[in-house]
Amino acid sequence: MSKKLYIETLGCAMNSRDSEHIIAELSEKENYKTTTDISEADLILINTCSVREKPVAKLFSELGIFNKKKKDGAKIGVCGCTASHLGAEIIKRAPYVNFVLGARNVSKITDVIHRERAVEVDINYDESEFAFDDFRTSPYKAFINISIGCDKSCTYCIVPKTRGEEISIPDELILREAKRSVENGAKEIFLLGQNVNNYGRRFSGEHEKVNFTELLRRLSAIDGLERIRFTSPHPFHMDDEFIDEFAKNPKICKSMHMPLQSGSTKVLKDMKRGYTKEWFLERVEKLRALCPEVSISTDIIVAFPGESNEDFLDTLDVMNRVKFDQIFSFKYSPRPETEAEHFTNVVDEDVASLRLTTIQDLNTKILDEKNSVQLGKIYRVYFEDLNSDYFVSGRSDGNMLIKAKGSDELLGQFRDVEITAIGRTILTGKIID
Ligand code: 5AD
Ligand code: SF4
Repeated sequence: MSKKLYIETLGCAMNSRDSEHIIAELSEKENYKTTTDISEADLILINTCSVREKPVAKLFSELGIFNKKKKDGAKIGVCGCTASHLGAEIIKRAPYVNFVLGARNVSKITDVIHRERAVEVDINYDESEFAFDDFRTSPYKAFINISIGCDKSCTYCIVPKTRGEEISIPDELILREAKRSVENGAKEIFLLGQNVNNYGRRFSGEHEKVNFTELLRRLSAIDGLERIRFTSPHPFHMDDEFIDEFAKNPKICKSMHMPLQSGSTKVLKDMKRGYTKEWFLERVEKLRALCPEVSISTDIIVAFPGESNEDFLDTLDVMNRVKFDQIFSFKYSPRPETEAEHFTNVVDEDVASLRLTTIQDLNTKILDEKNSVQLGKIYRVYFEDLNSDYFVSGRSDGNMLIKAKGSDELLGQFRDVEITAIGRTILTGKIID
C-alpha cells in the first residue's frame, strides 16, 4: 500500500518547483501519494522560505501544529531556504523534527527520510545535472529550472546563503525537459532561476557558451510549444540583444518582471544592485519602444537602511513614470548573514509602514486607471484552471488573469476573450473565438 505525503510550500516559484521534484522522487522511488489531510500523512514536509523574517517566525508555530495533528509514527521534515540557513538548530528548537533538507539538497530527499535527525544543508552541493523524476502540478504549464543558486550580492538578500553559488543547468537538459512537457500536453513553459538572464555564466562541467537569449531561441524552436515565460530577469543584465529577442520572438510572452527594489540611485548603490535609476528607466523605455504592448511587473523594498524621504520620492517617481502593471512591495526585513544586517541607519517603523501604504495606494490608483480602459478589449487567453462556479480562468500573453464561462473542455486551450467586467485581481470576459 502506498504511503501518504502532506507537503506545504512557502516562498517563490522556485520553491514550488522544488516541491514538485520532492513529490516526484518520493512517489516514484518510495511509493508516496500526496494527501491534503495532515492527520493521515506518514510524512509531513514544509518547504520553507527565509527571504523575510515573518515566514521564519511562522515556521515554528506551524511545526507545533504539525506535531499535534500528526498520527503516531508520522515523520516531519523541514526543507527549503530556512532549512539551509538554520540547519541543525531547527531540530534543537523542535526536537520532534525528523530531518532537515536544504534548498540545494532536494535530490537527497529519498535518503534523509530513512536517516533519523539527518541534516543535509550543504549549499555547495551541485544538483545542476540531477535527473529528477517527473511530476507536475499542472499539465498545461511546465515550470523548468534553468539554474540553481545566485551569484549576486544584494546587501539585503539571504538567498546566496541558502541556495549557494549560481550554476546553469546545461541547455540540452532544459530542452529535453521542455520537449517532454510539450509531448505531455503543456503549451507553455515557465523558466525559473534567481537571475535568469545571467544564464550561461558558469556550468558545472565544460560547456559550449550559451547565454539566456540563445537559450530562448533554442527553446522557441520546439514544435507545439506556444508560450515561454520566465522569472526573474535582473535589470542589470538586460542588454540590447536580450530586449531585441524578447520583442521580436512571438513565442515569448510579452510580460517582463523587472525587480526595481528602489528608485533611488543612492539606495540602489547601498543595495549593490549594479544599476542606477536612469539605467532602469532607459531599459524600460527601450523595451516599450520595441514592444509597446509589454506589461511590466516589479518588486519594491521600502525603508531600506538610510532611505531618506528624498530617496523614497525617487521610488514614487519611477512608479509614476513606468506605471507598472503589478507591484510586489515589501518593508525591508533585516536578514542574518547579509551585509545590510549590520547597517545602523535604520528607518523608523512608523515611517516604514507609511511608505509601504503610500506605495500600495499609488499602485492601486495606477492600476485603476489602467483597468478603466479594459472593457471591450480582446485578449488571447490560455485556459489553465477550472473555477468552482462554472468558469475557467487563464492568462493573457501579458499575464493578465482572465475568467470566462466554460467547462474543463477549455483547459489547455487558447481562446479570444472580450472583456465584459473589470476587477482588481481578475478580469471577466466572454469567449468570442
Ligand atoms: N527584506 C524585504 N524584502 C526582501 N526581498 C528580498 N530580501 C528582502 C528583505 N531582506 C524582496 C525583494 C525580492 C523579493 C523576492 O523579495 O524585493 O525581489
Ligand atoms: Fe525563494 Fe528566496 Fe524564499 Fe528561497 S528565500 S524560497 S529563493 S523567495
